[in-house]
Amino acid sequence: MNTKVLMVCLGNICRSPLAEGILSSKIDPDRFFVDSAGTGGYHIGNRPDPRSIEVAAKYGLDISAQRCRKLQASDLDEFDLIYAMDRSNYKNIISLAQNKLQIVKVRLLLDETDELNKEVPDPYYGGVDGFEKVYQLIDIACDKIAQKLSAV
Ligand code: 4NP
Repeated sequence: MNTKVLMVCLGNICRSPLAEGILSSKIDPDRFFVDSAGTGGYHIGNRPDPRSIEVAAKYGLDISAQRCRKLQASDLDEFDLIYAMDRSNYKNIISLAQNKLQIVKVRLLLDETDELNKEVPDPYYGGVDGFEKVYQLIDIACDKIAQKLSAV
């Protein structure tokens, strides 16, 4: 059975679509399924933010076909690993958990890295530089995750 990985942020238009696209590019699609969702429902059905689409394209990834969806309680059963971009996302995901098994699936994405600051900053209200920084942080984490997953 495929291992399912879910990337979660607040809006599901800036950070988690990048995380979905980046991790998908590093794993075997026959063995792993990667998706993303947002804890907030402000942009359901929308494409990723144009700045996320642009920074992904700069590194050869097309994330424009993704559509925003809201995180659901059933995702905590459905997915094997759930990565939160920041602590606020983490708390919101955990608030939907119904048992310990679900809670242990949830991690901060940057816990996979040596970064001292464990949060991927929300770039929504900032400039393009913020999206570049977010891309680099997520890329490092996804390298680590892909290495771990391929070793399984
Ligand atoms: P994301 O960024 O959580 O990385 O997708 C945000 C996108 C939209 C909003 C907040 C954060 N918003 O408030 O609409």
